[in-house]
Formats: sequence, structure tokens, C-alpha cells
Amino acid sequence: MKDENATSHEEEVKRAQDRFEQFKQSASVLGEDARKLLFTEARSQNGWLDRPVTEEVLKEIYALAKMGATSMNGSPAHFAFINSEEGKERLRPTILPFNLEKVMTAPVVAVIAYDEEFYQNLEKLFPHSPGADSLFKNDQDLAQITAFRNGTLQGAYFMLAARAVGLDCGPMSGFDNTAVDKEFFSGTSLKSNFLCCLGYGDPKKIFGRFPRLEFNEACTLI
Ligand SMILES: Cc1cc2nc3c(=O)[nH]c(=O)nc-3n(C[C@H](O)[C@H](O)[C@H](O)COP(=O)(O)O)c2cc1C
Repeated sequence: MKDENATSHEEEVKRAQDRFEQFKQSASVLGEDARKLLFTEARSQNGWLDRPVTEEVLKEIYALAKMGATSMNGSPAHFAFINSEEGKERLRPTILPFNLEKVMTAPVVAVIAYDEEFYQNLEKLFPHSPGADSLFKNDQDLAQITAFRNGTLQGAYFMLAARAVGLDCGPMSGFDNTAVDKEFFSGTSLKSNFLCCLGYGDPKKIFGRFPRLEFNEACTLI
């Protein structure tokens, strides 16, 4: 007799394969407008229009960002949305002076953090490999670097997701990580990575565009 669990796993894989195949048959690449929105015309923000960011939009961003790939599907990122005046005041002393105005005037500031004990969720997130958590539980250095690497990737997915739903981002590392961790994540396994101010950017506060490295400067063909 066939193992019932094995059968349902096989069915699940087949469903996923069919779904992807069907999707690829009708999928098209992003057009010029979408590329502009996500990459070529999107800018890092220094000031904000007086337009609120709703909780619904934050949920929309997360619904997209969570789908980005992470190793072993570990999903270590945690997004702490600071959208109250009280929250902002708690954040204020942790921000370096040159970033203070941008942060305090942003409708929402997301603390992009990562969970050093992300492996506690692997049973749910990577269910076909029971015991995968022991790999990290027994090696804190591996857990830390894996959490940081994948949490950073998720931070990038997050920014693209925010742009995809029409928001602008002001990412920043000019703050005191230790102070943020103490203020917001004390007694948890969460660590801050970077901040991402969210809102509708004020075009009048945009800086000149800096150059990027050319293909030959940043890429090699091996
Ligand atoms: C992780 C990260 C940290 C950053 N830290 C700061 C910061 O502390 N203060 C600031 O004004 N800009 C900060 N920036 C913004 C960058 O300077 C900006 O993204 C870069 O110059 C490119 O600008 P552009 O996106 O408008 O082309 C940061 C960006 C990233 C992604």
C-alpha cells in the first residue's frame, strides 16, 4: 500500500509544476513603464508629500515581499512598521543627525530586521525536511550569517514591492542598530538591519542622480 503522505506530497508537487507551466505560457516580461517604476526612474527619497500610507498598503507590500526567494525558504526578515508619533519618538534618539528630518517626516518607517532564530519556523516553512532546524540550532554563526544574508535579500524584495504598489522608499543605515534593537526588540531574537522610510516622495527633495557601474566594470563572463 502506498504511503498516504507520500502520495499527497507527489500530488502537491504535480500541482505546483502544472501551475508554473500554465503561468509561463501566458506570462509576459515587464514593459518599459513597470521597469521605470521598479528600477530606472525610481529614486531614493529625502522628503515626503503630505499623503498618508494606509495599513492596507503595508499589507499589500508584505504580500508581495514575502514571496521572494530565501535559502531553505527560511524567511528570516521581520518588518516593524513605525507609523505612530509615539513610535517615531522612540526611534528619534537612534537616528544620526543628517537623517533625522527625513525619518521624522516620513509617514511610515519600516525597521527591516532579521530573526536570528528563524530556524524555529523551518518545520512550517520547509516541511519536507524535518529536523532542518538542527543545522542552525547547533551552529550560531551559520544561523547569524544565514539570517543576515536572507533578511537583507528580503529587505530588497520589500523595497521593490513598495515601489510596485506605488510607494517610494528612503532606505538608510545611518542610525544606531544597537539602540534600535534595545528600544524595539529587547528580549527577542530580532536584530535590526536597515531602515526604510515609506511614503510618497517629494520630487523637490530629490538629489542629483549618481552614476552606476557599467556592465564591464561590475560583471565578468567566466
Ligand atoms: C542600505 C542602504 C542604506 C542607506 N543609508 C542612507 C542613509 O543613512 N542616509 C541617506 O540619506 N541615504 C541612505 N541611502 C540612500 C543611498 O545613498 C541611495 O540609495 C543611493 O545614493 C542611490 O540613490 P538613487 O536610488 O536615488 O539613485 C541608503 C541606501 C541603502 C540601500
